[in-house]
Amino acid sequence: MAPELSVNAQDGAVPDSLVVVSNREPYSHERDDDGEIRVQSAAGGLTSALDPVMQSRGGTWVAWGSGDADMAVAEEGIVEVPPSAPTYDLKRVPLSDAAVQGYYYGYANQVLWPLCHEDTGRMWAEPAYWEQYRAVNEQFAEAVDAVADADQSVWFQDYHLALAPRLVRQRRPDTTLLQFWHIPWPAPSVFRHCPHSDALLDGLLACDVIGFHTTAYAEQFLHCVDSAFPAATVDTDGGIVTRSCDKTRAVANPLGIDVEGVRDRARAADVTSIRDTVLGGSRSDTSIRLALGVERLDYSKGIPERIEALAHLWDRRPDLRREFTYVQKASRTREGIAAYRRYRADVVDAVERVNDRFGTDDWQPIVYTEAKLDNETLAGLYRAAEVAVVTPHRDGMNLVAHEYPAACVDGDGSLVLSELAGAATHLDGALTVNPHDIEAIADAIERAFELDEAETRDRLSRLQDGVEALDSSQWVARQFSAGQSL
Ligand code: F6P
Repeated sequence: MAPELSVNAQDGAVPDSLVVVSNREPYSHERDDDGEIRVQSAAGGLTSALDPVMQSRGGTWVAWGSGDADMAVAEEGIVEVPPSAPTYDLKRVPLSDAAVQGYYYGYANQVLWPLCHEDTGRMWAEPAYWEQYRAVNEQFAEAVDAVADADQSVWFQDYHLALAPRLVRQRRPDTTLLQFWHIPWPAPSVFRHCPHSDALLDGLLACDVIGFHTTAYAEQFLHCVDSAFPAATVDTDGGIVTRSCDKTRAVANPLGIDVEGVRDRARAADVTSIRDTVLGGSRSDTSIRLALGVERLDYSKGIPERIEALAHLWDRRPDLRREFTYVQKASRTREGIAAYRRYRADVVDAVERVNDRFGTDDWQPIVYTEAKLDNETLAGLYRAAEVAVVTPHRDGMNLVAHEYPAACVDGDGSLVLSELAGAATHLDGALTVNPHDIEAIADAIERAFELDEAETRDRLSRLQDGVEALDSSQWVARQFSAGQSL
């Protein structure tokens, strides 16, 4: 990481109480089939990094109230969380169906998501999407204004909320505003495809600090600002933009995982029984080795290329056919968007084709599951797998690439990693591949299974060092430290 855009955590940087703003909420209330209301806590990197901080510091988390019983249990939209032992407030923003369609399924996920993943052919910028995106960002800004005390810092999360910082700044000129962009920031030549590129940059530049997973994303953001606003002063080495009354620092602040938490769960897991459950009793032959992929069914994840690579490998190496099984743990996602529904169908078809071609009575080459796995089971599955394959076309960071090495508590396990995931910038020891290069993916999986023990251990140990260095506990402190030197 270039020293200029990176930042160290300073003691005392995190305020005593803060306001976090994100699209997804950390806890939702849902009604089950019997009409009982149940609380669900969100999985994912954002919640697992921020919920502990909110629990220890207190404050308010503002988010879309997406659970069907969310508003029923809230007073004026506010509910205290965690429900078992409340320590902070969750302010729920209710969104109409039209708002969800235009803001979430529309602008956020059919304009900004493909744009930032540099997949502009999938962008669809319906004018109504932008209108809803603006209106929902305004709704979030109003909610922040209603709950934030004068001295509280406000931290926005992700691409759903690019306009809200400016809308809050207009109401509160002196509040410290921060943003973390969890997905990649594209090259200027790509960002220009967006019809609202200047408005998005203007919204973000209301922040004092904007964080990215890598130096490259921070630099690309600065280059975009430089070309959009000639009157702004952009110090690309120092990461500072000065424009009218705004001074914004862009930093590389990579988000990792709760390493000890993953390790503890992996140590506690009953690996044999998890293996049996996932593979199915009749196929649980312990001599069969496992490779694993874990992802949302998102077109940025490179799953079809990986399945094709497996087909190439089993084709040219018949001796590997019963040697290992590939487990694809997939989660359905964003199915209000046709491209996601098509992607899921394509993945399922590809799995079936490979299984039909290579499968035998006693061996299923690919086990595909959409089962919801709790964190304990997932950690056990990581531990059971000898190889993890993480090959997104593009990914802000990719926390599976952190979780897998952390869960390899037996000292074995190899990671095949896309060179275009943010994680590849920070982690050393993986077998890196171009995610479009089917032969290279096949070669890397083959090699991963054939590494000798010393090299496997050495690579894993380097991976684990990198994962530990980015433990999520310092992430919040680094973000706030970046604001202190402005
Ligand atoms: O990676 C970006 C992100 O928004 C994450 O914050 C989140 O875990 C993931 O995508 C899931 O997306 P969604 O909220 O659309 O289900």
